[in-house]
Amino acid sequence: MLRTPVAEALGAASAASEIRIGGWVRTRRDAKGFSFLELNDGSCLGNIQCIVDEGTAAWDKLEGVNTGACVAVTGELVESPGKGQKWEVRAKDMTVFGLADPETFPLQKKRHSDEFLRTIAHLRSRTNKYGAAFRIRAEAAHAVHDFFYQNGFYYVHTPILTGSDCEGAGEMFRVTTLPLNTPVKPGENPYAQDFFGKECSLTVSGQLEAEALALGLGKVYTFGPTFRAENSNTPRHAAEFWMIEPEVAFTDINDNMDLAESLTCFVINRVLERRADDMDLFDRFVDKGLVDRLKGMVAQPFARCSYREAIDILKASGKNFEYPAKFGLDLQTEHERFLAEEHFKRPVAVYDYPKEIKAFYMRQNDDRETVAAMDVLVPRIGELIGGSQREERLDVLESRIREMNQDPANYWWYLDLRRFGSVPHSGFGMGFERLVMMLTGISNIRDALPFPRTPGSLEF
Ligand code: 4AD
Ligand code: MG
Repeated sequence: MLRTPVAEALGAASAASEIRIGGWVRTRRDAKGFSFLELNDGSCLGNIQCIVDEGTAAWDKLEGVNTGACVAVTGELVESPGKGQKWEVRAKDMTVFGLADPETFPLQKKRHSDEFLRTIAHLRSRTNKYGAAFRIRAEAAHAVHDFFYQNGFYYVHTPILTGSDCEGAGEMFRVTTLPLNTPVKPGENPYAQDFFGKECSLTVSGQLEAEALALGLGKVYTFGPTFRAENSNTPRHAAEFWMIEPEVAFTDINDNMDLAESLTCFVINRVLERRADDMDLFDRFVDKGLVDRLKGMVAQPFARCSYREAIDILKASGKNFEYPAKFGLDLQTEHERFLAEEHFKRPVAVYDYPKEIKAFYMRQNDDRETVAAMDVLVPRIGELIGGSQREERLDVLESRIREMNQDPANYWWYLDLRRFGSVPHSGFGMGFERLVMMLTGISNIRDALPFPRTPGSLEF
């Protein structure tokens, strides 16, 4: 079923005597002796206008063709006399693949709310906004791979089914093949009869395995789905999200912040360059000034400040935060946004957090109070990236694991990496949906991924 993508037809260098366009009807307007069909095929934001004249074979098939129907129009690509588009199709013939009853098709030609469109997520890629969002998402993913490829990283695949809790936050989805209510004898391993013979969960991060691979391959990254059973209903948290996790041997926390900044800027530039039409939609209808703000982000270096400085800035701000800003407490979204949006007015990497609020694997600083952690905070979102230099010293890592009341024996292979040929290394995790939110101005994570999973919501 040969067809020319609408993006290609709209950008054609010259007219064509025969072209076939397949797409979904966005609108149909009837006039005396002819009809206009606006077709969109997802290849770009724009529609192509098809004129169906009375007397053509196409005209005879117009019955019931309305918004939402899927058709293929064959005709001539001619210069459009109308404004707004260079080319249009003068239809000769048409194949009608699927009609859409206007009484029941939910996407009529009007503006629908994001909340409503979430209830029809299976159809929302046929709207301008979500078509644009998912094209930008695809472009950003491609940019991530290009960035790492160009910089000599290997794309590695870390497991999704796992027996370890990387973040130690206990927010894992359990995976089992046991029937519900399987009785457990007292004193017996409750997972003895289960598929793996031990507790299995969906991964919260590929980091631990990425570290193992970095200590053999040098520079690696994973880019895959991760899962968190945090019961927090916020516009920034999803139960299933995608994470980009580079891990690099022979690097410290400063190298890590440099890498985070270059990756972020690379993706911004790429999306602005290659998806200008889609970005323009977000700039005009979703988040005014978005494109200029993104250009501003890449025009100057990100700010950097220690957690200690950040706390001082927050205390001196005179702002009435809901949560206190105090050394030893984690930064809340309101703090993160204040720092990026109002204080620095650009992305900021905050480093050297108190060890109590960070994960066991982060490298202890000489002050013994902080660890070489870094978070990149961006305007409107807060935390985009979280990472650290990793603890490469066996004895320090073992005692950190014990301090967290964990058994080092469970981390035998992770500790082996420090036993055999250890080296300073670092990495981070970038939340891909948060990146898409930053790129588009979309304010709810439920709209940055096609089929969001959040507490109480598992449709589609
Ligand atoms: O800060 P986090 O928890 O870091 C880690 O998981 C590290 N193991 C990553 C590493 O160093 N390799 O998560 C990293 C990022 C966050 O900065 C945030 O952007 C995103 O993942 N994230 C979420 N995105 C959507 N929904 C959630 N529930 C998220 N939790 C974290
Ligand atoms: Mg974090």
